[in-house]
Amino acid sequence: MSNILKSALLGTALTAATATAVMAEGVELEITHWWTSGGEAAAVSKFAEAWTATGNTWIDGAIAGSGGTARPIIISRILGGDPMAATQLNHGRQAQELIEAGLLLDLTDVAEAGGWADIVNPSSLLDACTLDGRIYCVPINIHSSQWIWLSHAAYENAGLDVPTDWNEFVASSGDLQAAGTLPLAMGQQGWQQNIAFGAITIAVAGLDAWKAVNIDKDADVARGPEYTAAWEAVANARELARESNVQDWNQATNMVITGTAGAQIMGDWAQGEFAVAEQVEGEDYSCLPGLGLNPVLDTGGDAFYFPVNDDADITAAQKELAALLISPETQVSFNLAKGSLPVRGDIDMSTANGCMQKGLDILADGGVLPSGDIAFSQDTTLQIEDLMAQFWSGDMSAADAQESYAQLIEDAD
Ligand code: GAL
Repeated sequence: MSNILKSALLGTALTAATATAVMAEGVELEITHWWTSGGEAAAVSKFAEAWTATGNTWIDGAIAGSGGTARPIIISRILGGDPMAATQLNHGRQAQELIEAGLLLDLTDVAEAGGWADIVNPSSLLDACTLDGRIYCVPINIHSSQWIWLSHAAYENAGLDVPTDWNEFVASSGDLQAAGTLPLAMGQQGWQQNIAFGAITIAVAGLDAWKAVNIDKDADVARGPEYTAAWEAVANARELARESNVQDWNQATNMVITGTAGAQIMGDWAQGEFAVAEQVEGEDYSCLPGLGLNPVLDTGGDAFYFPVNDDADITAAQKELAALLISPETQVSFNLAKGSLPVRGDIDMSTANGCMQKGLDILADGGVLPSGDIAFSQDTTLQIEDLMAQFWSGDMSAADAQESYAQLIEDAD
């Protein structure tokens, strides 16, 4: 046998061996997300473990900072021809242009094989990433923003009862301040301040007014008396958070965990931080959905999207991962760690703590609202967040803020 043929056969054998080696380790997929806090990292490791257990490899593409930092990076990579294999984005319209541009994998066959239309609850989570009847995401959790988290230590140290609703929180804030404790922890970022604004408006303006503004985009209601009362409450809350000089949401959560602040208004992903700190709901902290006044939840949260790829093995692995992320076992392990609610109603969440059980009960009772990510375009959302950053960090009057907000609602798309 000629040396040329030998080397050719050896080369083929090596290639085959390499291919086999790759196949033995499965397929490597790079997955991007912005889950970098302690609780978030604990949760995403549940996905990585499940994927690795299938013989594949999870290349973790964590992006530090909030979604506002990560989303432009993720979207520009996909548009720029350097896509990851899978990425987290929020439910809603963040991937709309990518879907329309044909850059994301059609998962309809996986959805039909998995019966997603029957198991995803609420089904609106699929609507947000469905175009012309084709499904382009796998929803993986429900996060809601309308929660206040209260430190038992902060109130006990001040000789105060732990508030059971927003009104009690405001009423006792003076005594808490007198005891040297910051009443409201707040990261100095517009999306966090917008979460506080949204929760306070639901609690103070009421559900009907909130729906008129957020769903019907009714600027007259945004200028009306219910929102005047809400903006006055938000201006008061601004003073309760004035000394909160932290940036990231989990730094503010840590102030509640350590008792250096009485409370934080934040989404239920804060749960993951209390869990990592080994704090127990009902003993170390309390959680009040709807700020204890209007117990509803918005259906925010996360879905995974899969940029199209011309390698059939990668595409097959992407679909395998999509099915895995919504499987019952993975839904339980991930959501218990994340502090979010599962997207399927047919699994056992009996080990969920009191906060999650409150959320599951509200979800079961149908007390759900669309999240801002679903109600507004990214452009409108960013404009509202800019207004919030201006208002919370400065001295803009409630009246001026209300008019600016009403104009954004008037122009919302
Ligand atoms: C949200 C996301 C959550 C949470 C939060 C803070 O957009 O849905 O999963 O992690 O950001 O990073």
